[in-house]
Amino acid sequence: THIFRTWRTVAARYGFEEYDGPPLEPLELYTSKSGAEIVGQLYEFEDKGKRRVALRPEMTPTLARMVAAHAKGLKKPIRWFSIPQLFRYERQQRGRLREHFQLNCDLIGEAGPLGDAEIVALALDVMRAFGLGPADVRVRLSDRRLLGGILSSLGLDGGTQSLAHHALDKLGRSEYAGRRKALVDAGVADRAIGRIESLKDMRGLDDVMREFPDAAPVAQPLQAMFDALGAMGLGDFVDLDLTIVRGLAYYTGSVFELFDAGRSLRAICGGGRYDNLLEALGGVDLPAVGFGMGDVVLGELIRDRGVAPAVPASIDVLVAGVTPDDMPHVLQLAHELRDANVRTEYALGPQAVGKQLKLADARQARWAVVIGPDERAKGEVMLRDLEGKAQRTVPRGQVVGLVADSRISKEM
Ligand code: HAM
Repeated sequence: THIFRTWRTVAARYGFEEYDGPPLEPLELYTSKSGAEIVGQLYEFEDKGKRRVALRPEMTPTLARMVAAHAKGLKKPIRWFSIPQLFRYERQQRGRLREHFQLNCDLIGEAGPLGDAEIVALALDVMRAFGLGPADVRVRLSDRRLLGGILSSLGLDGGTQSLAHHALDKLGRSEYAGRRKALVDAGVADRAIGRIESLKDMRGLDDVMREFPDAAPVAQPLQAMFDALGAMGLGDFVDLDLTIVRGLAYYTGSVFELFDAGRSLRAICGGGRYDNLLEALGGVDLPAVGFGMGDVVLGELIRDRGVAPAVPASIDVLVAGVTPDDMPHVLQLAHELRDANVRTEYALGPQAVGKQLKLADARQARWAVVIGPDERAKGEVMLRDLEGKAQRTVPRGQVVGLVADSRISKEM
């Protein structure tokens, strides 16, 4: 609840509106554009109408299809967010489960880099809202246009560039050897491979421009993103990382991932620009950029860093009766309190007052109101402040106002 509430609060701050879509989609929605990795993880089956369908593994194709269908009637840029439950048949491990929830924030209809910066800023402000700073979370930012320019300058064409993407994705890991061999087999020279490997050491766009001056014209959007995030005061969170390529096939521009600073967990969030997906899935040419942030790794990080909030009280008041004859009065008062927006509970059967007060403690209630025959005879109730352990009698007619009004704590 804390995660979902924080997600909604920050998305609203950026003017994003909430949407949802169907959890079951036609299989080809994913097989056409998402890429092999996610297609291998689909929960898919044939329905009774002999249609091939899949539980949604991600939200972006659904969003692209929905927005494309209604594009004419929507004011651009479209700022939409959703918190879908998603299903992926993955090997379960720390940070990766077979179902998770994901905050999706997407900005559709804006091609310029301020749109990309807005999306990264939103992801970072979500982190800040959880109490996490640049010492806890880092954004690793790249751009497929820049990477394409670099790879072209090294003589790689479409086919070998995609092999280079796969290789960069695994750089420094055991799977890299196989990916490197694929480049060699495709005829990419050792020297070019060495320069591709050197991308992991580039920490700033200046380094990149010095090493690959031919790619300068396609570095502009990424530079503009760095500048905008710096102007927003978020520059401390952001690292250039040209090894970030992302597993999904539809990205066309900026790509980024958020990781814990210690790099002990899986990615918290991933996203980027996908300017061709709405055209491909819905026949409408609209640029788009967005991210997905999962609840699993985020939950682990929040716990690790000790920024999880204490479990909040579930009620404000417990209304207790002394004898069975008090029950109608308990019910009446409880109902008045709920009408006044005070969170209220009472025991659902006859119980000793002490037991009812124990329930109040367990619920972390701030107040208990005790109604007994003696108080009723005088038109009063007993009001106990469970924090300060003080108690006093108050007129029955005033108790709702007193409890609903926070000033009572000062009075007692
Ligand atoms: P993704 O990188 O596949 O991107 O997922 C985004 C985030 O969802 C990951 O960084 C991770 O936190 C979480 N996640 C993914 N799979 C799992 C899993 N099996 N268990 C737990 N958490 C998981 C996308 O899905 C893109 N559609 C995001 C996007 C939106 N791009 C543009 N707009």
